Amino acid sequence: MITFNTAESILKKYGQEHILAYYEELDDKEKVRLLSQIEMTDFSVLENLSEKNRHSSKRGRFEPLGAVTIEDIAENREKYYSAGAGAIRDGKVAAVLLAGGQGTRLGFDKPKGMFNIGVSRELYIFECLMNNLLKVVKATGAYVPLYIMTSEKNHHDTVTFFEEKNYFGYDKKYVKFFIQDMAPSVDFNGKIYMESKSDISISPNGNGGWFSSIVRAGLLNDIKKKGIDWINVFAVDNVLQQIADPCFIGAVINSGSESGSKVVSKVSPDERVGVLCLEDGRPSIVEYYEMTEEMRTLMTESGQLAYKYGVILNYLFRTDRLEEIISEKMPVHVVEKKIPYMDNNGSFVIPEKNNGYKFETLVLDMVHLQKSCLPYEVERSKEFAPVKNAEGVDSVESARELLRQNGVEL
Ligand code: UTP
Repeated sequence: MITFNTAESILKKYGQEHILAYYEELDDKEKVRLLSQIEMTDFSVLENLSEKNRHSSKRGRFEPLGAVTIEDIAENREKYYSAGAGAIRDGKVAAVLLAGGQGTRLGFDKPKGMFNIGVSRELYIFECLMNNLLKVVKATGAYVPLYIMTSEKNHHDTVTFFEEKNYFGYDKKYVKFFIQDMAPSVDFNGKIYMESKSDISISPNGNGGWFSSIVRAGLLNDIKKKGIDWINVFAVDNVLQQIADPCFIGAVINSGSESGSKVVSKVSPDERVGVLCLEDGRPSIVEYYEMTEEMRTLMTESGQLAYKYGVILNYLFRTDRLEEIISEKMPVHVVEKKIPYMDNNGSFVIPEKNNGYKFETLVLDMVHLQKSCLPYEVERSKEFAPVKNAEGVDSVESARELLRQNGVEL
């Protein structure tokens, strides 16, 4: 472990000496904890605070990108299904569940997947996802290896929950957990918050680090040993998420694309969703707030929105391509958040408004590192029921309604 002097010089370089302000008051154990946190923290993310380093100021030239539409898929269903189901049966496909987020908008203090979305019975978000995956297992007769990403903050609760619930009927031999990395949180002046005199304020570093965290956890060997060629990455909070969907996998394989993304048609030009398009000729996702009025409203000759296809955090990547891009730098997003902290009097404060920034890399930026990505259109009422907020848009209530519409008993 690093010495006090080394820690001090690292902090000086980044203008964060205040982290050691209480060092002399700490007992030996606390001193060790603080020094090891300083050693493990990636302070270079702070460089992203400067305007010139902000990801948003470095975007290229956008162009619209069409999709394999719902109609195309209906026409080719059998062909796609048999290619995808074949790949699953051959053990070529794995799934990665991104469940390391903190779900602050939902305001639930446990991992989001532990939220009970049932009304007259228990039905947990994790359970919805496992049920959806089990449908594929039943249809193809093969288990899909599942890797679940957690964070330091929710790992224990998540693993204990899966054990308690007997993996919701999934064969636990096919499930493995790994923990994502953390990043420091800062105030609006770029000073790292403290949670206590011996603890830096850190939080999960976004969902973009999932593959490097898999590698660090030693699971890439497992993936390669199993001969897995395709990895389907998906978010915890869409209870209608179709995981390892054979048709999607088959369509991507048949298209010769390096990757694929499930997309839904935007309901209106102003819908707040990232759109899959081309940026400097490569696939890319443009966030709703990055789109100009002209891009938002641009129409094709057939009278459709040109930037039409929104992403729903369900991607298919090739393992060999992920290995190739692992050393490429992902953009770091600076996101305003509410960050609990210790104030100057040593009291712990939970703020009501955003009070600083967190640093996140995002899985959607991996799409831009691919040479090609197949946008695959799905019906939103069948596959997209996000649980982001406690009330209103993308809430528990709207997701319940969509589950009911799809015949799920609540
Ligand atoms: P969100 O972007 O909705 O973030 O995550 P969140 O942390 O869950 O929720 P808020 O913003 O605090 O309300 C999209 C997906 O990415 C995962 C989440 O678990 C979810 O499946 N995620 C997010 C991670 O795995 N790690 C992260 O650091 C962030």
